[in-house]
Amino acid sequence: MLLLDEPADTVPHADPAFLSDVLAGLAQEPKAIPARWFYDRRGSELFEEITKLPEYYPTRVETGLLEMHSAEVGRITGSGRAVVEFGSGSSLKTPHLLRAIDPAAYVPIDISGDFLRESADGLAQAFPGLPIFPVEANFMRPVALPQEIAGKAKLGFFPGSTIGNLVPRSAVNLLRSMIDTLGLGAMLLIGMDRVKGEDVLVPAYDDAAGVTAAFNLNLLERINRELGADVPVHLFRHQARWNDLWARIEMHLVATEDLSFTIAGRRFAMQAGDTIHTENSHKYDPRSARQLLAAGGWSPIREWPDADGKFSLFLAEARAEPVAP
Ligand code: TRP
Repeated sequence: MLLLDEPADTVPHADPAFLSDVLAGLAQEPKAIPARWFYDRRGSELFEEITKLPEYYPTRVETGLLEMHSAEVGRITGSGRAVVEFGSGSSLKTPHLLRAIDPAAYVPIDISGDFLRESADGLAQAFPGLPIFPVEANFMRPVALPQEIAGKAKLGFFPGSTIGNLVPRSAVNLLRSMIDTLGLGAMLLIGMDRVKGEDVLVPAYDDAAGVTAAFNLNLLERINRELGADVPVHLFRHQARWNDLWARIEMHLVATEDLSFTIAGRRFAMQAGDTIHTENSHKYDPRSARQLLAAGGWSPIREWPDADGKFSLFLAEARAEPVAP
């Protein structure tokens, strides 16, 4: 009988969704684990460090764009909108926008409730008088917004080029589900990292200090910690590679020699050079970015690139579908 047909052992205290994603992802070829499992406490801390690395330009460049252009965003959107941030995390970029657009309310959505409440408290102090309604939810599906903002115009905010972490078909699904969440007439301010040379892209995901490597390898350590597994982490190596066909940076964990390990009673074997694919970061040029937005139901209004063409902010609007030729 096939090993795979046998039920996996139960692991006490393990998150069953984590266990089943890991078992399913490692049973397929090529092996892959969904990137959302990076973000345990250690993973979230390492990610904060990544955003400050000299090689990791997106956070710095996007923050600069928000400082420079939020006032103009505000002139286009008008005041009195409810700002709805998707995957707000620590909400570090949000103050620039909130200061400039005179919003009616702020609704941060994040899957991590702890993170959400911490950053909502911080923002409440910086913006006394601004109603804040945190929502703990998975923003990959339509989200029920608080009653308090039901009648208000909406501005979605989706920074960090997080859209690039989705394969295009999932990115389009997410953009469409954002319209279900926000309604027609909503606007969306979204950051997208642009296509550029491998000499810049690869180091951004494989820094000299090894922080991104530690972040990637932490996934294996988390599997050992939480799923009682015996993955030989020291036999894996972090790799960032450019996939030109898909216009994306891929992160992999490469087996440096033939190895095997056991998770919940299931044995997995890898040969030297085999990889576990752990993340994609798709890059868009201005036209492909606008096509992605349009495919997701968002009509582009404006683009603000930085002077070096590294990163762009886009403003778009969810219009009722007109009669088209
Ligand atoms: N949205 C970010 C990006 O793709 C997320 C990110 C940056 C990331 N560095 C990472 C995700 C390293 C996983 C691993 O640029």
